[in-house]
Amino acid sequence: MSRIVYVNGRFLPYAEAAIPIMDRGFLFADGIYEVSAVLNGRLVDNAAHLARLDRSLREIGITNPFDQEGWTALEEGLVARNSLKEGLVYMQVTRGVHERDFPFPPAGTPPTVVMFTQEKSVAANPLAERGAKVISVEDLRWKRRDIKSVALLAQVLAKQQAAAAGANEAWMHEDGFVTEGGSSTAFIITEDGRIVTRPLSTAILPGITRQAVIRLAAEAGLTIEERPFSLDEALRAAEAFFTSASALVMPVVEIDGQRVGGGQPGPHTRRLRGLYLEMATA
Ligand code: PDD
Repeated sequence: MSRIVYVNGRFLPYAEAAIPIMDRGFLFADGIYEVSAVLNGRLVDNAAHLARLDRSLREIGITNPFDQEGWTALEEGLVARNSLKEGLVYMQVTRGVHERDFPFPPAGTPPTVVMFTQEKSVAANPLAERGAKVISVEDLRWKRRDIKSVALLAQVLAKQQAAAAGANEAWMHEDGFVTEGGSSTAFIITEDGRIVTRPLSTAILPGITRQAVIRLAAEAGLTIEERPFSLDEALRAAEAFFTSASALVMPVVEIDGQRVGGGQPGPHTRRLRGLYLEMATA
């Protein structure tokens, strides 16, 4: 079966889908994206992802082309057309196509909307059994990381550095504190079982999985501390993990070649992953 993608109002075979070279997403990274997980053929926590998409678009002055129902119908249409059981739905909206010029194109220029699915082992991910390796890199990004911009060059470089070092994720740091992962939210768990993650601000993306994990942890009676933590504290932590739509709750067993928590996925992290999977497949 050929892969079906969505471009500007049409479901098309991937090979027939194309975007003009004057698209502002291509020329300026002038656009927003969003990623929702699919488990058992169903979208996970999708309303929260669409709310963040709406907020990011508003922050950069692109009119959201669809409401929640509209987006959901397109996502479900794409999942059905690709018979996707487990993986991701990717959505991107750019400021549209216009002769290259920095200021916004004329009002009424339609945004470009692109969507596709990716098959991926999200729940049955063998890395979650082994635990992930992380390296630390300086956070080279701009000052509005709360916006889910398609400008991801700093993350591409960070994650390539991680891959070249045989690691699975890069934890970015600034002023001595971890900001977040290249494409995930960073957490540690202290010896006395407190879950620590950086508070929301313009310094990090407000992770949708982060929000769900904080809620699930609180419901399970665990203590959450929203405060910055240093790399040094992470190295001394009892457990560490990161969260994202694609990784869900991913144990970290090594940072910069040093073992965390004895080099095994920790019990609190395993429990949180289990609780998240329960919620996502309920
Ligand atoms: N990345 N921080 C950054 C910088 C991210 O890119 C992501 C997600 C997250 C986690 O957000 P969420 O829990 O809402 O997925 C945090 C997506 C998955 C990606 O770029 O593929």
